[in-house]
Amino acid sequence: MTPFLTTPRLTLRPLALRDTGAMFTMLSDDETMRFWDWPAFRDREVVNDVVAAQLRDVDAGTAMYWAVALTLDGPAIGSCDLSDIDRHHKRAEVGFLFSRAYWGNGYAREAMQAIVDFATEDLRIARLWARFHTGNAASQRLLERLGFSREGTLRGHILRDSARRDCEIYARMR
Ligand SMILES: CC(C)(COP(=O)(O)OP(=O)(O)OC[C@H]1O[C@@H](n2cnc3c(N)ncnc32)[C@H](O)[C@@H]1OP(=O)(O)O)[C@@H](O)C(=O)NCCC(=O)NCCS
Repeated sequence: MTPFLTTPRLTLRPLALRDTGAMFTMLSDDETMRFWDWPAFRDREVVNDVVAAQLRDVDAGTAMYWAVALTLDGPAIGSCDLSDIDRHHKRAEVGFLFSRAYWGNGYAREAMQAIVDFATEDLRIARLWARFHTGNAASQRLLERLGFSREGTLRGHILRDSARRDCEIYARMR
């Protein structure tokens, strides 16, 4: 079960099918998707399928997805997650995506700090890690501010728009 989390300015609630519209706003924006593994989605049905797959991973106990909002019932301005949760090895991957209209307000950092605290203190996760496309300066800075450090480069890890892209691996140990 994905728990509710709160921060001074934000509510993090379990992602639900009703957040699909807000997710489409984010996942259909070319600038937001510049460093994503896939180009911006044009089809709402595909985004519905993405959210449905995320909710199946939650049900399987391998992921937690949050909708980040400014009020309890407000629209999602972002989405954050723990995925590939491995309870034996006590590790998980982190992910984050915010609506461009809300960038630059410290919301991503505030939401992700709450998730890092929850993962380390409540779930007792020892290793949190992240992968982002080389050149994604915002993600790099956000992760550094959360205490992650660089481990290495996955060369040509992603094939997008007919070109191979490198990815950086960052991690944070409890
Ligand atoms: C990554 C993302 C969530 C950051 O959102 P944000 O609203 O800018 O984040 P915050 O305001 O909390 O800022 C976090 C830090 O990143 C820095 N930052 C933000 N944009 C930056 C940029 N383009 N270049 C360098 N640093 C940047 C901020 O200054 C801040 O650092 P500081 O505390 O030292 O000032 C947002 O850019 C996004 O949704 N990107 C698209 C999705 C994506 O690429 N996700 C990662 C996939 S792994």
